[in-house]
Amino acid sequence: MRKVALSTECHRGDNACVFTVTLKSSGRHFDVAAGETVLEAAQRAGIALPYSCRAGVCGSCKATLLAGRCVYPRNPPTALDAHERAHHAVLLCQAVPASDLLLEAREVTSVEDIARRQLRVRVADKWTLAPDVTGLRLLPDEGVPRLRWLPGQYLDVLLEEGRRRPFSIANGPQADGAIELHVRHVAGGGFTSWVADRLQVGDTLRIEGPLGTLVAREDSERPMVFMAGGTGFAPVKAIVEHFIELGTRREMDVYWGARNAADLYLREEVEGWAARLPNLRFHPVLSEPDQAQCPGLREGLVHEAVLADHPDLSGHDVYMSGPPAMVDAARHRFTDAGLPDDRLYYDSFDYAPDVLAQIMAGRAGLHP
Ligand SMILES: Cc1cc2nc3c(=O)[nH]c(=O)nc-3n(C[C@H](O)[C@H](O)[C@H](O)COP(=O)(O)OP(=O)(O)OC[C@H]3O[C@@H](n4cnc5c(N)ncnc54)[C@H](O)[C@@H]3O)c2cc1C
Ligand code: FES
Repeated sequence: MRKVALSTECHRGDNACVFTVTLKSSGRHFDVAAGETVLEAAQRAGIALPYSCRAGVCGSCKATLLAGRCVYPRNPPTALDAHERAHHAVLLCQAVPASDLLLEAREVTSVEDIARRQLRVRVADKWTLAPDVTGLRLLPDEGVPRLRWLPGQYLDVLLEEGRRRPFSIANGPQADGAIELHVRHVAGGGFTSWVADRLQVGDTLRIEGPLGTLVAREDSERPMVFMAGGTGFAPVKAIVEHFIELGTRREMDVYWGARNAADLYLREEVEGWAARLPNLRFHPVLSEPDQAQCPGLREGLVHEAVLADHPDLSGHDVYMSGPPAMVDAARHRFTDAGLPDDRLYYDSFDYAPDVLAQIMAGRAGLHP
């Protein structure tokens, strides 16, 4: 690793203050422009660091600050608890350097080869997966090259005034470029209400992708636990299908938590995987079960079911995706059960960064 001389001075004399961030494990380094977050600057430099919500709430971009100082001028780092702050944890999606930085951060080099781009897609199919979940099949618009992505990644749907809405891609790359989304209708949600009520086959959308670092880690022989909550099944489906295609012999336990049986909208498909593959087991878990519809199904919270079956997670790789409350509870409980931080891969289905910023500003009595 190159020797790091940290500076607290801007490297430029004008207003465009630049600091250098060095990643301890690889020795790679990149410059951060004035006001930029570490994550934004790393992405501009083609270096993939983990992230999910991009709003400071999910904790997936957590890293350790070994030297230097950063500030949080956008959103406060709500995902860090007092213990993590005391141990110099920082959230890369919000941290803006106030000096050169030396960081211990996980790099996800597998996603670095695919540049993110914007494209127009057409709605080729729209169907009802569950009472409040819509399936969408999107195809690149005429003459537009297809999107490339890794199974598990997500895309942003681009709306007016720079607003974006993130959705996981529920399939792996296809020859015709088809992208499958599972969109849950959020009460009071502008975009998801429009998808449920007004979006029609033949309409076009602008998207940007691929995004995110929830992707298959193939450099491991460990057994895998997959845990999805609701439409958090979308990226889990893409990653499990990828491992099945690879013919993996690793043990796979797929947990899917939902309120009731209707919300397990592709249950037969997962039961089919379990019936075919001796190394894959399916564990549906319902939090509000209707015993008439689903006798015998497991009841409770899905992460509790994982822990009941795997009280020691120290030998596993865990992939999870779904509602923020589930992800937040699970990430603490799973690490308490021995799972190392760097073997927990997740996306937290938070609202879009602009909405979270408004909500947080509202809570603080501020205007965004
Ligand atoms: C990485 C990632 C992947 C995701 N993948 C999926 C997926 O595959 N499938 C899926 O269904 N979802 C997914 N989500 C969640 C999805 O992005 C959100 O449900 C979506 O952005 C909601 O958009 P909306 O325009 O309908 O709602 P919004 O209009 O953004 O509103 C969301 C909620 O916030 C409330 N709200 C809005 N503004 C304010 C305010 N100022 N103060 C207080 N409350 C407010 C609204 O009433 C509503 O309840 C993902 C999220 C992330 C981060
Ligand atoms: S807290 Fe940074 S990506 Fe979620």
